[in-house]
Amino acid sequence: MANHQIQAESLTLGYDDHIIIDELNLEVPKGEITVLVGANGCGKSTLLKSMARLLKPSTGAVLLDGKDIAKTPSKEVAQNLALLPQSVMAPEGLTVYQLVKQGRYPHQSWMKKWSKEDEDIVENALTLTKMQDLRDRSIDELSGGQRQRAWIAMTLAQDTDVILLDEPTTYLDMTHQIDILDLLFDLNQQEGRTIIMVLHDLNLACRYAHNIVAIKNGDVYVNGKPEDVITCENVHTVFQMHCQVSQDPIFGTPLCIPHGKGRCLFKQQLEGNFNAVK
Ligand SMILES: Nc1ncnc2c1ncn2[C@@H]1O[C@H](COP(=O)(O)OP(=O)(O)O)[C@@H](O)[C@H]1O
Ligand SMILES: [Mg+2]
Repeated sequence: MANHQIQAESLTLGYDDHIIIDELNLEVPKGEITVLVGANGCGKSTLLKSMARLLKPSTGAVLLDGKDIAKTPSKEVAQNLALLPQSVMAPEGLTVYQLVKQGRYPHQSWMKKWSKEDEDIVENALTLTKMQDLRDRSIDELSGGQRQRAWIAMTLAQDTDVILLDEPTTYLDMTHQIDILDLLFDLNQQEGRTIIMVLHDLNLACRYAHNIVAIKNGDVYVNGKPEDVITCENVHTVFQMHCQVSQDPIFGTPLCIPHGKGRCLFKQQLEGNFNAVK
C-alpha cells in the first residue's frame, strides 16, 4: 500500500453559520489505527465527512499527501480514501453483491471496464466480512448488523490505503464487533492501511488504537497513545463522567469503568471510592 498522509490544517467546519469544528489541526499517523472519541454531537462525524471530501470547510483544509482534497477530483480522492458514514441508506431492492460492487466505482472508467481484478476484490471483501451466504439478499431485508457488514464490505471493496469508518460497530453484537475490529486490525498490521474510526466503546478503542483523538468544543482536546489519553481526568473533561481507569486483564490496555448506579456487590467499598473522586 502506498501509505497516504492525511492531515487537517486549521480546519473550520459547520452547517450554515453554526461552527462545529473550529480551526482544528490534526496529523493522522500513516499506517496506524486512530480512533476519534468524544461526546454525542461534538463533531466526530462532521470531521470524518470533511476528511472524505463530503463537507467543504469554511476555512482551512484537509490535506492528502500535502494536497488540498477540495482541489482534487472526487474520484481521485475516492481511489485513495474510503468512508463508511454513520448512517447510510441503500436504494430499495439492491442486493449485497450489487452494493459491494459499487465500491469498485472509483476505479472504473470508460477505458477501464469491470475486470477479473475487480471481481476478485469484491469476492475478497464479501469473504472478509463473512457476507458470502447473504450476497443475493436485498439490503433492506437484512438485520442491522448484517447491513452494517454489507456496508463495511463495500468500503473494503474500494480497496483504499486510508479507510475512515464512522461507528462501524454500533449495530453489531459483541462477536461481530470483535470480528470487524480484528479484520480492521489485520488490514492495518498486514497491509499497513491507515484506519481512522469513531468508536464509542473506550475499552475497545484502547485495545485496537495506536492513537486516540478526543474531540471537545470543536477542537482536539487530547491526542496520543491510549495509555496517555484515557485517564480519569480526561474522561471526566471530555464525557462529563466519573470513572475508574484500570488495566485490561487480557491486553494490558486501559480499562475504563464508569461510575453510576447499578446492582453493586461491593456497595460500601465502591461508595468510598466514588466519594474520594467527586
Ligand atoms: N446536516 C446537518 N445540518 C445541520 N447540523 C448538523 C448536520 N449534521 C450534524 N449537525 C450538527 O452538528 C453537530 C455535530 O454533529 P456530528 O458531527 O454528527 O456529531 P458526532 O458525530 O460527534 O455525534 C451536532 O450539533 C449536529 O446537530
Ligand atoms: Mg456521529
